[in-house]
Amino acid sequence: MWTEEHRNWDAVDYTPLKDGSAFPSGFMWGVATASHQIEGGNHNNWSEFEPRSKSQQLSGEACDHWNRRSDDVKLIRELDVSHYRFSIEWSRIEPSQGEWDQDAAQWYSDLVDELLSVGIQPMATLHHFTHPVWWDQLGGFEREENIQHWVDFCVKMFDLLSDRVEWWCTINEPAVYTTMGYVLGEFPPAVRSFKRARSVALNMMRAHAQCYQALKAKPRGEHCHIGLVKNINLFDPYRRWNPLHWIQAKVLDGMFNRCWINGLAKGKFKPPSGFRSVSVPGLKNSSDFIGVNYYTHLLATPFMPTKVEIDPLIRPWETRTDFRYPMYAEGLRRAFEMVQGLNIPIIVTENGVADDDDDMRPEHVRRHLHITAEAIADGLDVRGFYHWSLMDNFEWAEGYDQQFGLYHVDFETQKRTLKESGSEYKAIVKAHRTPQVVIMAGGLGTRLGTMTEQTPKSLIQVNGKPILTHILDWAQKQGCLNALVLTGHMGEQFEGFTHPGMSVRCIREDSPLGTGGALWNAQEHLEERFILLWGDDLHPIQYSELLNTHHTMGAPVTMCVTESHEEMNLRHEDGRLLEYDKISANPEFNGYEAGTSIVEKSVVLKHGSDGVWSWEETVYSALSGKAAVHLDNTPFWDMGTPERLELLEQFLKETTL
Ligand code: BGC
Repeated sequence: MWTEEHRNWDAVDYTPLKDGSAFPSGFMWGVATASHQIEGGNHNNWSEFEPRSKSQQLSGEACDHWNRRSDDVKLIRELDVSHYRFSIEWSRIEPSQGEWDQDAAQWYSDLVDELLSVGIQPMATLHHFTHPVWWDQLGGFEREENIQHWVDFCVKMFDLLSDRVEWWCTINEPAVYTTMGYVLGEFPPAVRSFKRARSVALNMMRAHAQCYQALKAKPRGEHCHIGLVKNINLFDPYRRWNPLHWIQAKVLDGMFNRCWINGLAKGKFKPPSGFRSVSVPGLKNSSDFIGVNYYTHLLATPFMPTKVEIDPLIRPWETRTDFRYPMYAEGLRRAFEMVQGLNIPIIVTENGVADDDDDMRPEHVRRHLHITAEAIADGLDVRGFYHWSLMDNFEWAEGYDQQFGLYHVDFETQKRTLKESGSEYKAIVKAHRTPQVVIMAGGLGTRLGTMTEQTPKSLIQVNGKPILTHILDWAQKQGCLNALVLTGHMGEQFEGFTHPGMSVRCIREDSPLGTGGALWNAQEHLEERFILLWGDDLHPIQYSELLNTHHTMGAPVTMCVTESHEEMNLRHEDGRLLEYDKISANPEFNGYEAGTSIVEKSVVLKHGSDGVWSWEETVYSALSGKAAVHLDNTPFWDMGTPERLELLEQFLKETTL
């Protein structure tokens, strides 16, 4: 017996979603799509079927993503997400058996490069409901001997992309593919046959296992994360007092959810409505993570409609989505618990809502993220969340009648417009992503003597790369995508400076403005919250821990302080900065500013002014008692003098950060 929780959502506090304290740093924030739903111009089992589908709408040009790839990557970037899940259209790669289209393969390779160049990690799905017509004619997943063709395609894609794509999904929702195609008759080949459904289900599990094993055996297999994507559809008894409703709910849950999950856990699969388990070679533990697609729960009675046109039952207080099933965020927790026993990381590979006018979606996003954050806080290993979907698209049997996008798409003009829900998701994501780093790189570096006569100090080479590159490498490792470099002395030498995967902007002051003046001068480029670094210090600390302190203390500035340093330049107590003096050491001082701080932009605006001023002297004294202190004794590497530069060189030679 399981409980069916329902919350009073009006009483739920969403502040942690907004202030960035709900999710751990490093959480994967994503959006998802599938090739056939967005690319346009596809020819596959689905395009063949469309004239006979329920809506009879043709996918046609869809979102014309095939021709608008680069612009769409910008839309993804605009959402501030860190990950993007897409699927590779096999029918484009191998349009007829054994004939491989290099240009199509190159298109996906370019997509991956474009994503990485703006700091977005790709996740590729190898089967998302569609495949080539020739393979369909051979019987698709109905015949075991066909599996090898698909695995060959998967291996080809892995060979091409796994140097850049770390995350792979084998098959998207085998239970949906089987049920919709072979039981409910809504997806191709639109038959109603339990017998055929059973062989398809079994072969999909075999295919998943074979694909996993083949990719894992590749040189980069160990380095990549490969998993199955399972749609968890919850079934609850309509009347909880009625044993027949319970029986129905249990049977459906077993067929739709449990048999697949058990199959993965045990390596033996009992297909839905089957009587015996079949041992599937390579199936046991064949997932490095489990992708959970979660949309709703269904209320079970022995008389449930098997036609999607008939509205499903819902609870009186639930809201129906455009798809007619209810919004039920509470169930996401149960979906996590259902796969928890696999003991592998869980990733929400899809969650979203059909809501044409976007009046439910903002709340839908908040509720599902709230449930996810709560599950993580309670110890469930949920690593990421991909919203379904990036933009409105072709919703299979529903055609263009159901819209799931964070961006609205006008299918006449192909114009994309961010919806309110898109801004909401972006705001939550942004609050949780590593903020922009702002690097002070304008100083003269006089203590370095002749070295800085020709080169600004942040561009001095240490262990083969400019110090600035080392600093950015670390920031990037900490999940940072944006850097603002404030330059002055020989600032022209920063022109054209880049760092792959990060956007780097250099702002040069015309005349020396001091540390505060430099920030004031760049104010229009500062994000609301940023990480302040010094261009001659390498400080390899965990930004997430510093950010946690910043959230907990709710401070305008949180500075990292070390207590193991030969000099001391500040006094702190109970996590707050009380006094700071760069020049005269005070015997009561008990800490040293280690050079990484979190700053709210409002502080710059409040304390700043035109002209020359010092950030440390002005702001630290003004914020005495308010600024927070984050204690961390990780050594920081200041290369301000030739001796220290030498030590840093030594350190970088010996350590991989
Ligand atoms: C599928 C998507 C689909 C979404 C919304 C998922 O089951 O993977 O392709 O668009 O549901 O119905």
